[in-house]
Amino acid sequence: MPHIIDGKAISAQIKEELKEKVTRLKEEGVRICLAVIQVGNDPASSVYVGNKKKACAYIGIESLAYELPEETTQEELLALIGELNGKAEVNGILVQLPLPAHIDEDAVIRAIDPKKDVDGFHPQSVGALCIGQPGFVSCTPAGIIQLLKRSGIEIAGKECVVIGRSNIVGKPMALLLLRENGTVTVTHSKTRNLKEVTRRADILIAAVGRPKMITRDYVKEGAVVIDVGIHRNENNKLCGDVDYEDVAPVCSAITPVPGGVGPMTIAMLMNNCVEAGSKR
Ligand code: GUN
Repeated sequence: MPHIIDGKAISAQIKEELKEKVTRLKEEGVRICLAVIQVGNDPASSVYVGNKKKACAYIGIESLAYELPEETTQEELLALIGELNGKAEVNGILVQLPLPAHIDEDAVIRAIDPKKDVDGFHPQSVGALCIGQPGFVSCTPAGIIQLLKRSGIEIAGKECVVIGRSNIVGKPMALLLLRENGTVTVTHSKTRNLKEVTRRADILIAAVGRPKMITRDYVKEGAVVIDVGIHRNENNKLCGDVDYEDVAPVCSAITPVPGGVGPMTIAMLMNNCVEAGSKR
């Protein structure tokens, strides 16, 4: 049976490390503060925002919560971001996505000061990642790199195949694997002979957004399989993009859903906040 990559345990370990760092920073008089903005009350977003606030409290990061009504205008949201950009005591600004349809998400992301862009979504952060300069990195792909490294899985020289090309996961994932000297292929809905391509992977990252799409015929024997998806099946049970029961017996390591990639996103967000605060 494969090694099951325990994202919950690795995320807990990272959070402990950060907690110690934050305690030391406090002793030096440095406080860290994250502003979290939610517009409207999408139930999934409320759960994510709640978890982010809880993680902040655990690590010792202050959090400022802005819960704005659905009718908030783009101008009002941009004005709040402008105000937070100007506040020296705020190190990180996070606007929970998705935003209501009348607000231009790109304009909102662009308004965040890149020095406070703890989500790593600002074009300047993405550009810096692309050309190997310092900047914040999108939390889910950064968390996947930590999962691999802390599980002793080497990336350099490996065939890495990413399924999915979103701005938040697929594209930054490819750039990070490349930075670690992987040989990277990005596949998407127009890729021909997808199974042929994915079967070349030593490390396969599934970020497709379709429940249990990746069955064992997409996977080479002995591959490492990372599942970014999270869905509820017909019985209200959580499942990923990977058909875990089918794939686990043929791979060397795999992330479960839940308890794999999911917990890493918040750990890396906390890491970005600590980085933002220590650089101040
Ligand atoms: N919505 C879903 N995932 C994320 C995330 O990582 N950051 C933000 N800001 N919104 C999200």
